[in-house]
Amino acid sequence: MEKVSPAQISMLTAYDYSFAKIFDEAGVDILLVGDSLGNVVLGYETTREVTMADMVHHTKAVARGTKRALVVADMPFGAMKNAVANAKELVKAGAEAVKIEGIKEIKGIKGIIKNNIPVMGHLGVLPQTAKEYKVQHSREIIEQAKILEQAGVFAIVLELVDPEIAKQVTRAVKIPTIGIYSGPHCDGQVLVSYDMLGLYPKAPKQVKKYVDLKTEIEKAVKKFIKSL
Ligand code: KIV
Repeated sequence: MEKVSPAQISMLTAYDYSFAKIFDEAGVDILLVGDSLGNVVLGYETTREVTMADMVHHTKAVARGTKRALVVADMPFGAMKNAVANAKELVKAGAEAVKIEGIKEIKGIKGIIKNNIPVMGHLGVLPQTAKEYKVQHSREIIEQAKILEQAGVFAIVLELVDPEIAKQVTRAVKIPTIGIYSGPHCDGQVLVSYDMLGLYPKAPKQVKKYVDLKTEIEKAVKKFIKSL
């Protein structure tokens, strides 16, 4: 995937057939079956509870609703213990690439790429292991991005990275950076769809809601009840 300046790569999370179909038809470039499904769909406190079975189930649903966008599935917590086999399972479910948090599992990342499965990296806040959700200022992220690029990943998500660091990462690597709460200087932007649609009650405070679907749904449900 080449850098696409000045146009930006758009990426949204999707977890099921209906939303995937809407996002795909609306023109989103990449649909991420994020393990954020653990929070926003399954109601867990963290993404660590999400299993390979969950990811396969939701990836199949998203793939059924997608004709055009690239479908990327998260490798859930613990899945790198059996990296290649699990990545292959997600591809069999319909993913065209997998996303992996951090660089700790660089051997596994290289193994997956060697097996012709494209890998998207993820730096900054790593929700599977992070203790706090706070802005990352470390310049180490620039070096980590270079390591991922050398390993052959095709794009890198930067989550809650200081915008100045995110800008330097974007300059330092040839592959696209896709930011989430990391400022405007990335090659693309990703959002958790349930947050930007106003569906998830525990959305982070940085979230910009593009619509308040919770209120719209409540109105529709009340209308239905009243109509009985
Ligand atoms: O799981 C997810 O939704 C993600 C995004 C925050 C990029 O990894």
